[in-house]
Amino acid sequence: MTILVTGATGTVGGHIVELLNGKGVKVKALTRAINKTNLPAEVQLVSGDLDHPETLQSHLYKVDGLFLMTQSDQSDTKFLANQRIVQMAEKAGVKKIVALVDYEGNPIEEVIKNSGMEWTILRPVEFMKNVLNDWAESIQKEGFIRTAFPDSLSARIHEADIAAVAVKSLTEEGHHKQTYDLTGPEALNPRNMLKQISEVIQKPIELIEMTVDEVKTEWKSKGYDEQFIDYFIIEMGKNPPEQVYTVLPTVERVLGEPARTFAPWVEENRHHFE
Ligand SMILES: NC(=O)c1ccc[n+]([C@@H]2O[C@H](COP(=O)([O-])OP(=O)(O)OC[C@H]3O[C@@H](n4cnc5c(N)ncnc54)[C@H](OP(=O)(O)O)[C@@H]3O)[C@@H](O)[C@H]2O)c1
Repeated sequence: MTILVTGATGTVGGHIVELLNGKGVKVKALTRAINKTNLPAEVQLVSGDLDHPETLQSHLYKVDGLFLMTQSDQSDTKFLANQRIVQMAEKAGVKKIVALVDYEGNPIEEVIKNSGMEWTILRPVEFMKNVLNDWAESIQKEGFIRTAFPDSLSARIHEADIAAVAVKSLTEEGHHKQTYDLTGPEALNPRNMLKQISEVIQKPIELIEMTVDEVKTEWKSKGYDEQFIDYFIIEMGKNPPEQVYTVLPTVERVLGEPARTFAPWVEENRHHFE
């Protein structure tokens, strides 16, 4: 069995490559930076860019399964590129596609469902690793974090669980026509996540509460527009929709074991905070 993994150098894709490789599955790992990866030696690195589907053409032949990390933006560009990749995969004879989509109702889902391939769609909530971008530097250098929404709940998922579900779906039967909404096993908020990080690194971490205006100013300085900030940062922070924090049993149902909690994730990533 040969699987083409896109996003192979990323967090989810990296776990997928490792798991497939551990199972003895032949992996083609797609990257735009073929000389910069540190993937296992047995893995075949292939060069390609998801924004330029034609660069994937030759890698799709003699492949049984495709893990597609779909990308989206506010234009149609990413959608059209994703659509083309799905069409090319089907034409090349790929039997199974497992796609990670970033939001419910992404139109690429319909394209995948209507392809002639066996399909599984993975829709995870927020990843635990976002904590690294948001807080790691500040915790390490300053011993505090700043947030306006310290009680905002999210059933964050460990990236390795997404990968494990992807690998099951790619290598075993019974996952065709399944859309898996994936969450972690507990609803977390910044306060309790900080407490757990602080216990592991054995250092106090202060939580500084920001005002909404401070949040707006910060995100504007990062180049985000007002509409994005008002909805994705302020509104989602104040009133997260139910599906963001509702714990689902999907990971446990698919894997036969409970989803990973935040505690092991912190242990695995403690060096980023110390
Ligand atoms: N973070 C979250 O909370 C969250 C929640 C739901 C869904 N998602 C989605 O999950 C997906 C996977 O995220 P991740 O955290 O595993 O990724 P990541 O660690 O951020 O890494 C990004 C990966 O995507 C690849 N990549 C990016 N643009 C590419 C392009 N144009 N062509 C080819 N490869 C490209 C990179 O490969 P090279 O640089 O090696 O080319 C790298 O392997 C993303 O699509 C994201 O939108 C994220």
